[in-house]
Amino acid sequence: MQTVQDAPGLRAAIRGWRSKGQTVGFVPTMGNLHAGHQSLVKLARARTDRVVASVFVNPTQFGPNEDFERYPRTLAQDQAALAEQDCDLLFAPDVATIYPFGAEHSISLRVPVITETLEGAHRPGHFDGVATVVCKLFNLVQPDLAVFGQKDFQQLKVIERMVRDLSLPLKVMAAPTLRADDGLALSSRNQYLSVEERARAPLIYDSLLKMRNLLEKGHAWRVIEQAAAARLVRAGFVPDYVVIRRAEDLAEPATDERHGLVALIAARLGNTRLIDNLMFD
Ligand code: PAF
Repeated sequence: MQTVQDAPGLRAAIRGWRSKGQTVGFVPTMGNLHAGHQSLVKLARARTDRVVASVFVNPTQFGPNEDFERYPRTLAQDQAALAEQDCDLLFAPDVATIYPFGAEHSISLRVPVITETLEGAHRPGHFDGVATVVCKLFNLVQPDLAVFGQKDFQQLKVIERMVRDLSLPLKVMAAPTLRADDGLALSSRNQYLSVEERARAPLIYDSLLKMRNLLEKGHAWRVIEQAAAARLVRAGFVPDYVVIRRAEDLAEPATDERHGLVALIAARLGNTRLIDNLMFD
């Protein structure tokens, strides 16, 4: 596997593959890779001739009081993890390659409406940063297929919309969330949890399962949301949201709507913010 840091090097490699008629799959990441990321590479590997992964901790998607500075940067480990999955190329650009005029002076993309709720409401500007960097990465890599984890459900929906709205010539693939044995969704941020917090964290997934169960039994979604939020608060979590939404556009469902729904939770446990979701079909 080659590691490339600059745009000309990346383009040269991709031109070489394209000249042989090969297809390109892409997995954008912020690094500190775990088995969840590796499963995304595996999915791309099975569908395209070549696979590119990127590692870039994108400054424009972090709020002023978020964890940009302390976000784990583990490039050597990431190289080994990607090589293990038979990834062809790791693109690890610096900030100047992605933001040639500086992150503050960059063009910014906004995907309307779907970004204004949930994560977007609690992390203002976050999805503008995500859409901007992903669009830039798509322009650089020009993949046929890009794979995103369902764990960041709203992000996936934002990217799908952006690709469709801008008529970008690639397919977006959603990959299932990978979980630890106790149900906790794999995330680079799990390592911020203390031992005691890590033991409590699976309550988020347990709450999602319970929400699904209650919905199947015919309970009203608003009541289910309130009960799940109260249970998390009792266990010491500080929820940002505990909701049931339409999976398609994340709008509130009608009272009797039962299909195509998703439950989404974001909650703080100590200093760590955890998110997870569960589709109801
Ligand atoms: O999901 C992530 O790791 C990031 O939001 C992404 C898609 C790589 C953009 O920086």
